[in-house]
Amino acid sequence: MSRAGYELPRSAFHLAVAALLLVGASGRAAGDAARGKELFANCAVCHGASGEGNEKLKAPAIAAMPQWYVEAQLQKFQTGARGAHPDDIEGLRMRPMSMTVKGEANISAVAAFVAALAPVRPAATLSGGDANIGKATYAVCAACHGPAGEGNPALKSPPLTQTQDWYLMAQLTKFKTGVRGTRPEDASGATMRPMALMLADEQAMKNVLAYVRTLAR
Ligand code: HEC
Ligand code: HEC
Repeated sequence: MSRAGYELPRSAFHLAVAALLLVGASGRAAGDAARGKELFANCAVCHGASGEGNEKLKAPAIAAMPQWYVEAQLQKFQTGARGAHPDDIEGLRMRPMSMTVKGEANISAVAAFVAALAPVRPAATLSGGDANIGKATYAVCAACHGPAGEGNPALKSPPLTQTQDWYLMAQLTKFKTGVRGTRPEDASGATMRPMALMLADEQAMKNVLAYVRTLAR
């Protein structure tokens, strides 16, 4: 058999395998997307049909949050690393909802669906913050959350520009009071906690969030 005669069927075989794998992968991706959409129907009740959030229910905008972050938070809510503190009224509301998403494949599917939603630009609700003072403070935050508030997956730090200021304020307060970020299994929350402790009072939080607001496109 000539060398070419041997090579040809083998590469044809490889092509066929590759084609089959591609079909399999896209079939699976389509299945995951459908599953993600189906699972999200439960989330929409509080987070809104477009993931835009609902202040009355204290449910933040989650549209376009990165998949890795949504996955991590769902896992934290499930294990109680987040949302199990007796004073965490909103977390306690979210926790049982996280339980409706069973298994890693479903967590990934719903997180991918959330990540693919168009980002929203929620209206400002806080007043009295000084963005110029906040800018100096934000230099510290930028080390993890990025100079434009875009987040940094390597440091497990979420973007800060896609959700509501009232929600960010509530989270800073939770980190400061130890309602979030104090469970031993919450390693990434523990990196955030000292940063919130650095913010002396509500005014300091308002200032830094007023600056974060200027970063939101
Ligand atoms: C009963 C209302 C409710 C439902 C339903 C709900 N959530 Fe939540 N969710 C909340 C609340 C309230 C918070 C804010 C918790 C806090 O303040 O710490 C939250 C927080 C989150 C966060 C954290 C966001 C962040 O920036 O850290 C994610 C992610 C999330 N929810 C995803 C989901 C997904 C996915 C579903 C559907 C499987 C879902 N939620 C269903 C109420 C709900
Ligand atoms: C050392 C890295 C680091 C620094 C510096 C840092 N953060 Fe964070 N921050 C994180 C991590 C990691 C999380 C996610 C924690 C988790 O997974 O629950 C977070 C979460 C947050 C959240 C909650 C976001 C959400 O969607 O729930 C807010 C708000 C926040 N940071 C604001 C700030 C501000 C303001 C500063 C500066 C004063 C700051 N961070 C500095 C690492 C950091």
